[in-house]
Amino acid sequence: MATTPVAHKILTDRIGRIEVSATMAVTAEAAKLRAQGAKLVDFGAGEPHFATPRHIKDAAIAAIDANFTRYTIVSGIPEVRKAIVERHACDFGTDYAPDEAVFTTGGKLALFNALQVLVEHGDEVILPIPYWVSYKDIIQYGGGVPVYLETDESANFRITAEAIERAITPRTKAIILNSPSNPAGSVVAPADLERIVRLAHERGIYIILDECYVYLQFNGALVSGASFTEAKEHIIVAGSLSKTYAMTGWRAGFALGPKPIIAAMSKLQSQSTSSTAHFVQKAAVAALSGPQDSVAEMRADYLKLRDQVLARLAEIPGLTCTVPEGAFYVYPNVSAYLGKPGAKTSLELAGRLLHEAHVVTVPGEAFGTHQHIRLSYAVTHEDVDEGAARMKEFFAKLG
Ligand SMILES: Cc1ncc(COP(=O)(O)O)c(C=O)c1O
Repeated sequence: MATTPVAHKILTDRIGRIEVSATMAVTAEAAKLRAQGAKLVDFGAGEPHFATPRHIKDAAIAAIDANFTRYTIVSGIPEVRKAIVERHACDFGTDYAPDEAVFTTGGKLALFNALQVLVEHGDEVILPIPYWVSYKDIIQYGGGVPVYLETDESANFRITAEAIERAITPRTKAIILNSPSNPAGSVVAPADLERIVRLAHERGIYIILDECYVYLQFNGALVSGASFTEAKEHIIVAGSLSKTYAMTGWRAGFALGPKPIIAAMSKLQSQSTSSTAHFVQKAAVAALSGPQDSVAEMRADYLKLRDQVLARLAEIPGLTCTVPEGAFYVYPNVSAYLGKPGAKTSLELAGRLLHEAHVVTVPGEAFGTHQHIRLSYAVTHEDVDEGAARMKEFFAKLG
């Protein structure tokens, strides 16, 4: 007797829980226009306009010439893990051992793997708004539930221990902190940071510190929440070389954390990417242990660019903007222009900015707010002027 075939659905539930990264979607849309010959000013992708410093490139070239082109152990060669923990110890007073570090294919994989090994179905992860695009999808992919924490724009989106405490439930597994932040460039004040880290530790909740922009803080001493070493058992640092050393395309990041968590992340990595490219690890050693002058030079230019972009945006009536204290993004509030036909949402507004003014921005919806657009000012000073002029004209027409 013939049996009726069972109808199989093609895609898993878990892939249905996530969306394509909004910034990548914007990049793709911009690429289409560019291919048609449009001269865009690109404030979209968050990537340094600087070239990777010479000594890092040279280290990679020398590594390839010396045939460092094979598989390595999954968590990274001992040399790169030593360089990671020494850099962090030197800059933030932490005391990680090399086996508390894993080298990953970008900081994004460090975050992805950390959340996959920590978050069980139904576990809650506290996520302050505005948040970097990928956190919510990575949490949801693992079956977790993002718990969004409202912050106050008039207080520069400040995150306080009190607000975090109110969001904690018996299901809270982790808190994500990103300081300086993408998209608003806000910095968690050192006193708040200490209180949040201690609170998480006392409650047995993991604190995931996304330190992608930790070296791009404009005022005061650089701080890492991991420097509160008595809470080490509950801290996971996700680090990235992408922005610090202008190495986005190299895919170089790392995680620091308790040995069992790092071992679990390495196990997961062993079944997906394995190690990163051997010569990239060699280049990372040069980046982390070599001269750090280029980091300070780039930071100084980002600060000038920040002031320039804020000054130019201030010339556009109705736009307001918090002052970023780090990273390389501004997050202007465009609510004065929303609600009009063809610009009901910031998504629509960003679409029109792209198609009509040829200025690439990312709508706030991607970061959990509805009244903003994000501009990356990791571009040339000429592009800031040109892009702002086009925006001024566009908004004037929009009225
Ligand atoms: C806040 C934040 N975290 C992590 C990353 C991941 O960076 P990467 O994977 O290039 O190291 C980014 C990249 O834009 C980011 O903005």
